[in-house]
Amino acid sequence: MPDIKDIGVLLAEAESAISMANSPDDLEAISIKYLGRKGQITAVLRSLKEVPIDQRKELGAATNKARVKLEQELKEAAEKFSKGDKKANFDPTLPGVSHRIGAIHPITKVLKQVNQSFERMGFEIAKGPEIESDYYNFEGLNFPPDHPARDMQDTFYVEGDMLLRTHTSPVQVRTLKNSKPPVKIIAPGKNFRNEAISSRAYYTFYQIEGFLVDEGVSMADLKGVLNAFCRDFFGEGLKLRYRPSFFPFTEPSAEVDITCFLCGSKGCRLCKHTGWLEILGCGMIDPNVLENADYDSEKYTGFAFGMGIERVTMLKYMIDDIRLFYNNDIRFIRQFI
Ligand code: PHE
Repeated sequence: MPDIKDIGVLLAEAESAISMANSPDDLEAISIKYLGRKGQITAVLRSLKEVPIDQRKELGAATNKARVKLEQELKEAAEKFSKGDKKANFDPTLPGVSHRIGAIHPITKVLKQVNQSFERMGFEIAKGPEIESDYYNFEGLNFPPDHPARDMQDTFYVEGDMLLRTHTSPVQVRTLKNSKPPVKIIAPGKNFRNEAISSRAYYTFYQIEGFLVDEGVSMADLKGVLNAFCRDFFGEGLKLRYRPSFFPFTEPSAEVDITCFLCGSKGCRLCKHTGWLEILGCGMIDPNVLENADYDSEKYTGFAFGMGIERVTMLKYMIDDIRLFYNNDIRFIRQFI
């Protein structure tokens, strides 16, 4: 025979089940369990006729009240689900959802490393415009208008004598014009050349220009700085090789190779079986360039170098196609977190 206490227990049980319900289906199950045709509260209501008459009224009223209360609470809980109230089914014990964080582009990462390496040696950072005049890109760097060296660089012309700079060397002329010696600068930046795209060439690329102008600067200073940088960036035990070359704005000029770190200079696919990898162009700044920037070339000398950032990044991380840097494939970039 049910009594008033049973109703209290049933109601408490049902209410706690409602508070833990995670979905409308859970609520439906609770409704069936307590208020359905064979539900527990329904059963009490059905059995009222067997309850002694003196208790029947009180038990009947209490059971009905419990039924109404439960119906109301089920309705309210169902409304919360339909409104998408997240708090209604928030389980603080579930593990969190981790979000994918971004990655730093390998070029950005290497630019930062290279900048820091030269900053430790006392170089300051300078910048120049990507849209340059013919003067700073060529003329001021000792390329006369009909100089055949201009053919070395396929230039994107913009308008009149404006062009997209083909190298970072214009920053040499710009900075020298505005500073007093000693000048010790690195200039990282983007350049553009109308190249046929391949695994080794792209129409846009980064370089870092470096130059030092003062009294008594010699090729030995250039070698000292580049040796220190390469050790810092690529690691110890590396050799540098200077091959004579030509640039209109340096005399003498050289291209620098480093020993292939993949094969230890024995010869492999990366170094095309030469044991050496080319990383930069350099030389002693041509006196004409110093004079163009109003420096007394009898008194001051300087060195300059220009290093391809994609190139050293490809070597450091063994990337075999320059186009990967510009394809925006997040799977590639994610490897460089
Ligand atoms: N500007 C040259 C190039 O783009 C590299 C260079 C810079 C060479 C400085 C010598 C000195 O190829």
